[in-house]
Amino acid sequence: MSFAPPTTATAPRTWTRPDSEFFISTNPSLLSVKAVNEAFGQEWLYWGTPFPEEVMHDMLHGAMSFGVYKTIQPQPEGEPFTPSTETTEQIGLARMVTDGTTFGYLSDVYVLPEYQGHGLGRWLMSCISEVFSKENMPYLRRIMLLTGDKRIQGWYAKVFGMEVIAHEHRPDIGQDLVFMCARPNAKS
Ligand SMILES: CC(C)(COP(=O)(O)OP(=O)(O)OC[C@H]1O[C@@H](n2cnc3c(N)ncnc32)[C@H](O)[C@@H]1OP(=O)(O)O)[C@@H](O)C(=O)NCCC(=O)NCCS
Repeated sequence: MSFAPPTTATAPRTWTRPDSEFFISTNPSLLSVKAVNEAFGQEWLYWGTPFPEEVMHDMLHGAMSFGVYKTIQPQPEGEPFTPSTETTEQIGLARMVTDGTTFGYLSDVYVLPEYQGHGLGRWLMSCISEVFSKENMPYLRRIMLLTGDKRIQGWYAKVFGMEVIAHEHRPDIGQDLVFMCARPNAKS
């Protein structure tokens, strides 16, 4: 018996809002290695450092990457929404390292500081929870993540029902991290 490759749950999607210059997409062709590497070089992104471009490319494309984008060129009126790297700027990211069916590891969640506090992070999480919902991924057993920020733990608990399951002492980055886990449709 042969099976078609997985398509539905992880097929690229784009979320827009009326009259908003921002949108969120899992379309891999929009991802900007340069923009993410620049963010990885900033102090506020405490867990990252820039990578060689090919490494960053593989990191972004080897996972389900949710990009947050700002439209920098207005869309011609009445035309279908067709963003490209030339007409957009990447201002945020969340990567779900996943098999697309049973497991997801959420990593590298950020919105650039100048765009924080306007609901983009919350919107990003709602897009992820839509893709990783019970309806879309009925065999999803676990979502995990690591974070160093206490306030954000409450946020993940609220959005995904995540609980702290372990701690990691990390003197190298000057922060102790917690492992959080949700078991949306757990059998094991
Ligand atoms: C966390 C982050 C992605 C949120 O993005 P955002 O666009 O500012 O988020 P929103 O405006 O949608 O706010 C969402 C919630 O996060 C909270 N929040 C925003 N920034 C926060 C921060 N730096 N730390 C903790 N909580 C924060 C808000 O209070 C809000 O909670 P509420 O809706 O219950 O009031 C963003 O602050 C960021 O990139 N931080 C730096 C990188 C980081 O720490 N990433 C998470 C690693 S685990």
